[in-house]
Amino acid sequence: MSQTTPPDSRSFPLRRQCPLAPPPEYDRLRAQEPVSEVRLPTGGTAWLVTRYEDVRTVLSSPAFSADGTRPGFPTLLPGHEQILRRPPFIRMDPPQHSFYRRMLTQEFTLKRVRTMRPGIQTTVDRLLDDLLARTPPVDLVEAFALPAPSLVICQLLGVPYDDHESFQSRSKAVLSGASTAEQSATALGGLRAYMDGLITRKQREPGDDLLSKLVSEQLEPAGELRRDELLMMCVMLLSAGHETTANMISLGAVALLEHPDQLAALRSDRGLLPGAVEELLRHLSIADLVTTRIAAEDTELGGTAIRAGEGVIALLAAANWDPGVFPEPERLDVHRGNRHHVGFGYGVHQCLGQNLARLELEIALSTLFARIPTLRVTVPVDELPYKHGGLLFGLHELPVSW
Ligand code: HEM
Repeated sequence: MSQTTPPDSRSFPLRRQCPLAPPPEYDRLRAQEPVSEVRLPTGGTAWLVTRYEDVRTVLSSPAFSADGTRPGFPTLLPGHEQILRRPPFIRMDPPQHSFYRRMLTQEFTLKRVRTMRPGIQTTVDRLLDDLLARTPPVDLVEAFALPAPSLVICQLLGVPYDDHESFQSRSKAVLSGASTAEQSATALGGLRAYMDGLITRKQREPGDDLLSKLVSEQLEPAGELRRDELLMMCVMLLSAGHETTANMISLGAVALLEHPDQLAALRSDRGLLPGAVEELLRHLSIADLVTTRIAAEDTELGGTAIRAGEGVIALLAAANWDPGVFPEPERLDVHRGNRHHVGFGYGVHQCLGQNLARLELEIALSTLFARIPTLRVTVPVDELPYKHGGLLFGLHELPVSW
């Protein structure tokens, strides 16, 4: 961490003013101070990186490490230092990172994920049947956006969906920014204990699911994984597998409702759907703050010297709104045809679940608007309860009618 103290105006995270756009300060920083120092809420300082090319450099150059155990690794939320003491592979460097990621890549290839399409469609249809049977207003987060990806990741991993309330609320407590360090630690401990119990169950009664497969093939003594390593891997998959996509479904629905011309274009040409999902991922950049790193050596970025051991935050929303790469970035344009946004990160840690997330978003959003053509939000969009201050941006609730 740097010894100099940045001015108070640079305290971080910055707040979104319009919920469907990054904090406006990102534009000024990108134009005037593309690598600038900020004070972190957990103490210490870090470098904020706002230009697209610089963000990609941070996420792909070995000069920047994802190793969360390095002293001074930046944390944004209370209690997250303890996640870094025994981090999952998202906070490791190669070759350690590659060792774990390799065990999972086959499970998330495009080919494998495509076989899940009918199952995801059935899940989405069932949820919408239940939603339509209710009297509006209904909370779209609780009735649809959260259960849809939760059911999918539960089925993939072999986690009983009946346990959803406990793992959803604990994941939220760890990621939301609304918890104290103690609450976050308790929630993480609860998730670990839950997964530990599940591993024991899969050892006794294996099923046709990913957790059972990992237990039988990778866990010691037959495999190379210690129990605590498998546990961390599965906690990460369970949390990352539902909380992220849930935020994208609800926020994506709001963004399309706020841009009726884009929604109409999408309705008239289903072929636009994959591009629309990419554009929503770029535009909303819900994982803006996830990509933290630490300089592994003295280096230089955008003309600024960064010393070994200093924290770096590669802001995904700032990169995705870089006008040099995405002209008129504020325009949500389903025809834009971009696949080079960094909404899923970049480099070796680029989202493992991106094929699954894309498919879930395509099915969830297209089916939602096809089945409920008169869908509307019942509260002014700027008065909705947004997840400011959390690691992932999104909505706590979304009251809708039709
Ligand atoms: C729209 C939804 C999603 C978004 C926006 C998203 C975003 C991201 C981002 C930005 C990263 C990179 C973090 C970094 O470099 O530090 C990441 C990594 C990861 N994501 Fe996702 N994600 C989504 C859905 C999912 C799903 C459905 C899964 C399912 C299992 C998943 C699992 C993971 C894992 C395991 C990693 C770590 C990869 C590694 O370190 O090699 N994500 N995600």
